Amino acid sequence: MMSLASFQLVSADRFTIEQLVSLYNQTRVDYLIPMPMNARRLQEYITAYDVSLKDSLVAVHEDGEVLGLGMLGIRPGRAWITRLGVLPTTRRKGIGEALMIGLLENAYRLGIGFIMLEVIKNNLPAYRLFHKLGFQEVQELLVLRRSPINQVTDPVVANAERLESDAALTLLRRRRNLYPWTNQNETFFNIEGVSGLRVTLADDSEGWLVYQRQQFTLTRFAFLTERGHPKAIGHAFLSHLHHQYPRLDTLVENIPLQDAHLPAFFEMGYIEAFRRIEMWLGTPSGQTDATTRQLTWVQET
Ligand SMILES: CC(C)(COP(=O)(O)OP(=O)(O)OC[C@H]1O[C@@H](n2cnc3c(N)ncnc32)[C@H](O)[C@@H]1OP(=O)(O)O)[C@@H](O)C(=O)NCCC(=O)NCCS
Repeated sequence: MMSLASFQLVSADRFTIEQLVSLYNQTRVDYLIPMPMNARRLQEYITAYDVSLKDSLVAVHEDGEVLGLGMLGIRPGRAWITRLGVLPTTRRKGIGEALMIGLLENAYRLGIGFIMLEVIKNNLPAYRLFHKLGFQEVQELLVLRRSPINQVTDPVVANAERLESDAALTLLRRRRNLYPWTNQNETFFNIEGVSGLRVTLADDSEGWLVYQRQQFTLTRFAFLTERGHPKAIGHAFLSHLHHQYPRLDTLVENIPLQDAHLPAFFEMGYIEAFRRIEMWLGTPSGQTDATTRQLTWVQET
């Protein structure tokens, strides 16, 4: 049986993307939701989510075999743990916990004391590990899918304005809450193919959606209701979006369960694919509104 002393943690930048993706896929062969990656997708992931390979870790056995990995995303005032996995054959020997502690130490070394992560609901081993290390549950997040079978023939009557990338990215800065890592502004600044849609209804309510258009899929949504009811605004921007792209699938990740726009998504044919639980360790720099419990994020620049 392998002892704690028989492996060491090595910086992930000593490995090629191909080696990292192969290890990652091996750690996920028995995963709840199959999500195999390839090198191109892992590289995009690293870029989009500000993953620092220098601060990410690979567990290596003394005989040279790679056993597990964990990645660290870094943004001002916050860090994110992701892609954690240990080979099924070497689990429950302390490798996952050692990787986690190593990643936390890397964040602390950079002066970051606030760490975020998400775990798929019912992934008990990972949830217990994070809880053991002090992570607290913050909220449930939904991953939603929509098939283009749901055609929109009559979009909601509204003034709908298409926004090019620059205008869309500018709108993002109007959001004040601290969103799950994948949906934070930096993600949109890091990726290609971002556009937006601003809608104004007859009663003067107004809001917008910023999204990424990939070849076959609409994905990565950020949205805000500036005035009026989020359900009405959500219905308006979704109906115009899907009217505009009648052939594309949609995949939207990490929408908080309590988001007031959600009923509009379900009305527009979105279905829940699965749920994640967002967990935090430490406290973000910001102010929490006592009534809404929403955090106003104070961006450190
Ligand atoms: C989650 C995972 C990384 C844990 O790695 P591991 O090396 O087996 O974990 P460790 O041996 O370091 O265990 C540390 C703690 O995790 C928890 N834990 C790990 N496996 C567990 C299990 N099967 N059941 C319950 N708790 C478990 C326990 O709290 C454990 O502490 P303990 O030994 O004092 O009880 C591993 O199960 C894995 O790779 N799973 C598949 C990928 C995955 O789920 N990644 C996380 C995505 S968010």
